Amino acid sequence: MNHPELTLTDRRFGQTRRHDAWWLQPLAVFLGLSVFGLYSLWVVFQGDHYHHGPYLSPFYAPLLFDPAGHISGHSWLAGRPDWLPLWVPPSLLILWAPLGFRFTCYYYRGAYYKAFWADPPSCTVSEPRKEYRGEGSFPLIIQNVHRYFLYFALIFVVILAYDAWKALWFDNGNGGKSFGIGIGTLILTGNAILLGGYTLGCHSLRHLVGGIRDRLSGAPIRRTAYNCVSCLNRRHMLWAWMSLCWVGFSDVYVRLCSMGVLSDWRIL
Ligand code: FES
Repeated sequence: MNHPELTLTDRRFGQTRRHDAWWLQPLAVFLGLSVFGLYSLWVVFQGDHYHHGPYLSPFYAPLLFDPAGHISGHSWLAGRPDWLPLWVPPSLLILWAPLGFRFTCYYYRGAYYKAFWADPPSCTVSEPRKEYRGEGSFPLIIQNVHRYFLYFALIFVVILAYDAWKALWFDNGNGGKSFGIGIGTLILTGNAILLGGYTLGCHSLRHLVGGIRDRLSGAPIRRTAYNCVSCLNRRHMLWAWMSLCWVGFSDVYVRLCSMGVLSDWRIL
């Protein structure tokens, strides 16, 4: 049997036979992640306007201690530990976990390899380097820590759900708390739901709850869990972007209320 002869030709970076706007998606990812990254960096070191009444910005949750000059009522410790250098803000101690979880997420990896490293910029678009080393060798083999970040991310979902619960309890002026619902309550609840949907649809969790088994038919609990995670996993990209944008939006809302630019509307 004769096989047609194939010739492989070197193509220059960005060369492709595609006629669609293939560059649009990597550009949008580049801009979206850059804006979020720079904003997060600013929020972490800014250390102000991170709380308002029962609301706490998700960038500061859990709040281990208040930055100097603040008493938010949300902190876990009475004050900054003596051994901690003064330049370290409280959010820096916790944000490595959710950021590490996102950075190593299977979806984001595919997205930022294209958008930031052009490796390749898009399907069937020529890349700038010749050899492909992949995630089987250093340094990208480190991405496998994602499964361990998952455990921390699950804890964060619980913490953010607790913060959403606390956002239901407002000072009543007599030193106690009374039940209420404000716009901020809805925003922080939405944040916990979206982060929950993103985290519970994780590929590593899917493997953990059922993927490690050859057969699920004899394990009804595992099978149900696997189906639930798979259901969320089908829209993992959507959950990833919605939860990312909502975290930023939640911080902006709490910040503007704290600055007095917005006043929180009490529905109940
Ligand atoms: S694969 Fe995206 S969060 Fe785990």
